[in-house]
Amino acid sequence: MNKNASRVVIVTGASSGIGREIAKYFANKGDKVYGLARRLFDDEKIVSIQCDVTSKEQVRIAIQQIVDKEKRIDVLINNAGCGVSGSIENCDIDDIKDMFNVNFFGAVNVTQEVLGIMREQKGGKIINTSSVASIIPIPFQSYYSATKASLDIWAKALRMEIKLFNIQVCNILVGDTKSNFTLSRKKSNNDKGTPYESIVEKSISKMEKDEQNGKDPITVAKVMYKVSRKKKLPPTKTVGGMYKLILILEKFLPQKLMLFIVSKLYS
Ligand SMILES: NC(=O)c1ccc[n+]([C@@H]2O[C@H](COP(=O)([O-])OP(=O)(O)OC[C@H]3O[C@@H](n4cnc5c(N)ncnc54)[C@H](OP(=O)(O)O)[C@@H]3O)[C@@H](O)[C@H]2O)c1
Repeated sequence: MNKNASRVVIVTGASSGIGREIAKYFANKGDKVYGLARRLFDDEKIVSIQCDVTSKEQVRIAIQQIVDKEKRIDVLINNAGCGVSGSIENCDIDDIKDMFNVNFFGAVNVTQEVLGIMREQKGGKIINTSSVASIIPIPFQSYYSATKASLDIWAKALRMEIKLFNIQVCNILVGDTKSNFTLSRKKSNNDKGTPYESIVEKSISKMEKDEQNGKDPITVAKVMYKVSRKKKLPPTKTVGGMYKLILILEKFLPQKLMLFIVSKLYS
């Protein structure tokens, strides 16, 4: 495909935060962007499609609608996501499953739907919004870390499976970013009145503060766009110098020391 030709791009979770910024950025660069989310939104440059990524049927209909119109899908960005916080012992199992259904199985649903199309057109790119928390486990946000770690390992295997079809995959590891994520996070009430209560409160309020003082979502959008334009996608890409450094340290420091530092920060 011509480097400057308009690509057909799908962004999930495009109704707010990082996804909205990604969708706008790609559209402003000339791509034809379809934004999927449960809420419809107004943006003259983005086609908004109502779709809950946890519903296989809604995903099938949404992708079919795009393919009927465009006949191809060049880039899929699996970005829809949510958070749940609380202790491992007390988090509600249904909340944990709901989060896995969005953060992991949602990406699986959409990817399974587009792979056949990308295979037929002999190429495509899949980019997933992952998190630095997929590598650095965050106490009291452990299940969120687990959803993103699942997404990382799955994407690496996917990369090997679909290489022969000229389809590439990259996970973008994002750190604290200012968005609606903080407000939307489901905080477990089950720690109230338990020995975890005060430590969970402190830990979550630090996380919230860090997110609200975090980067502008446009920084993620810019990195994602740059990656999407590469001829060869790296398996992962981290957003921001500080997070790159943290992940390098994670590789080289003894695990015990790394976990000690994280635990000092969050618990
Ligand atoms: N903010 C951070 O600090 C941070 C750090 C690392 C990674 N991330 C990741 O970045 C991604 C975007 O999050 P954000 O920070 O931009 O948060 P956000 O502002 O809350 O945006 C989340 C997006 O996901 C969509 N979504 C949630 N459930 C969905 C579902 N079932 N089906 C379809 N769409 C759904 C939401 O749209 P609707 O509610 O309209 O469905 C919304 O558009 C997530 O994967 C998150 O894990 C965020």
